[in-house]
Amino acid sequence: MTSTGSTLAALRWYVDMGVDEAVGEVAPDWLAPRPAAAKIPAVPSASPAAPPPAVFAVPTAPARTRAMSAPAAIPAAQDAHRLAQAARDLAELQDALRAFDGCQLKQTATNLVFGDGNPKAKVMLVGEAPGADEDRQGKPFVGVSGQLLDRMLAWIGLDRSAFYITNQVYWRPPGNRKPTDAEVASCQPFVMRHIELVLPEVLVLVGGAATRTLLGRADGVMKLRGHWFDYASAGLPRPIPTMVILHPAFLLRTPSFKRETWRDLLAIEQRLKTLH
Ligand code: URA
Repeated sequence: MTSTGSTLAALRWYVDMGVDEAVGEVAPDWLAPRPAAAKIPAVPSASPAAPPPAVFAVPTAPARTRAMSAPAAIPAAQDAHRLAQAARDLAELQDALRAFDGCQLKQTATNLVFGDGNPKAKVMLVGEAPGADEDRQGKPFVGVSGQLLDRMLAWIGLDRSAFYITNQVYWRPPGNRKPTDAEVASCQPFVMRHIELVLPEVLVLVGGAATRTLLGRADGVMKLRGHWFDYASAGLPRPIPTMVILHPAFLLRTPSFKRETWRDLLAIEQRLKTLH
């Protein structure tokens, strides 16, 4: 191979690995010893790690019912479940994620992307996965899709002081690929605990991926959007009314679907009005 050919091959390899932009002057030494992980609260050892609880997604209209399958009861998933359940508040959950090494995405990401907005808000949104901007800033939905989402939510009078937002995985997949089922499953106990700790009045799933993970439904997002579902997990005192909306990245590519999203947002606005 010529030197140009091998340079191109190396660059291609970098891009495939997700190294598609320069974020600093100095290359980080990933092999250097890591700082000690944050302390997480001890979990009573007497209780053996139980598999994550089943989550039930019951559509309120039209009536269709299906129990969601829990993440596979493999040791990493049990560990994730145990760590997540031990968190008593969002700070502890974030520390637990910092100490958790069961998700491959952490190896290649720059930052943990935990959550943003007001954790006391009535509305919580769950998206798919952080992208490059989110990875750099350590905050969800701060890139172009996030800016569109912010504008869409502003239509119904919500800004980040009036909603809380996170993703179904906490680290950026290299090259913005879709997270694998294993990566999603490893984060799922934390996402479920995240929802339990925020305890919103209304949950909004942004795009099909979060819908599959949290509602356990294989139907496409086009079929699910615009309907209310009940999301429940063992640690929730009551099911949470849940709406599925189209992902802003899809709307950027297909603006004609903004009309449907407008309707879905109005339904969310109506629902919020009934809470006052
Ligand atoms: N898309 C997502 O689903 N989440 C983000 O945080 C950013 C873009």
